[in-house]
Amino acid sequence: MQVKKAVFPVAGLGTRFLPATKASPKEMLNLIDKPLVQYVVEEAVNAGIEQILFVTGRNKRSIEDHFDIAFELEALLHEKGKQDEAMAVRSLADLVNIFYVRQKQALGLGHAILCAREFINNEPFAVLLGDDIIDSERPCLAQLLDVYRHWRGPVLALEQVPMEAISSYGCVKAKTIAPRTYEVLDMVEKPKLEDAPSDLAIIGRYILTPDIFPILERQQPGKGGEIQLTDAILELSKSRTIYGCHFEGNRHDCGDKLGFLKATVDLALKREEFREDFTAFLQTKVCRI
Ligand code: G1P
Repeated sequence: MQVKKAVFPVAGLGTRFLPATKASPKEMLNLIDKPLVQYVVEEAVNAGIEQILFVTGRNKRSIEDHFDIAFELEALLHEKGKQDEAMAVRSLADLVNIFYVRQKQALGLGHAILCAREFINNEPFAVLLGDDIIDSERPCLAQLLDVYRHWRGPVLALEQVPMEAISSYGCVKAKTIAPRTYEVLDMVEKPKLEDAPSDLAIIGRYILTPDIFPILERQQPGKGGEIQLTDAILELSKSRTIYGCHFEGNRHDCGDKLGFLKATVDLALKREEFREDFTAFLQTKVCRI
């Protein structure tokens, strides 16, 4: 069965970015000229996703507005002869079908995914976490879908991270079964360094199957007192094989201030219009250190 639907859990409070996220969602933080969430929505659309469900919470209205039609703005832009800008604004509303459901309590990532159950029904689906911006030739989600189509089971995006960073991630023990492809043998959410089974971290892209939902429904709170998706996938692994995809591409952790800064510099240097001036500017700064 083809994967047409994707779930975006966006109910988090964004505490790592306060005060920027006091009144606006972290998903709307701007990376050069687009909010974070737009990069991830574009990745999903480029991978063939046709319907997106945002699992939202309080203070997330601006995400809805960003992907909606803005009649007044469009009319004003047309009036001023700014046709290109008007089209760019409209194209966002035409990008993909978007649906919304509220996660009424912040009970964890696993609980957020459970809120998508009725929307997903009995289909395989993708999950994309907005903190991870992945710059790659072939969209990261498309790489996971290749693995899904070949091996016919749930797939997690994996990346090797420095061992001292592993406690910030879900960590897996895995065995290589094909180039950049793993069978996942064990997983643990945000382990202590000494308990981590490897340096392979789960990155925020998943292909899941609907048999995850009954497990999520029973799932007891885990790390941090939250219902963890990692714990539910571990439970699922007892009844079916879970795969890992060591995707090709450059991942930026934009849930972190330094990661966000690095992403800004990296993506800016890739843009023709900024490259020369921005490189010269950075060189003057680096020379002073
Ligand atoms: C979530 C997952 C974790 C994963 C991470 C990737 O954690 O629970 O397993 O490694 O996303 O970004 P969070 O960063 O939302 O706390």
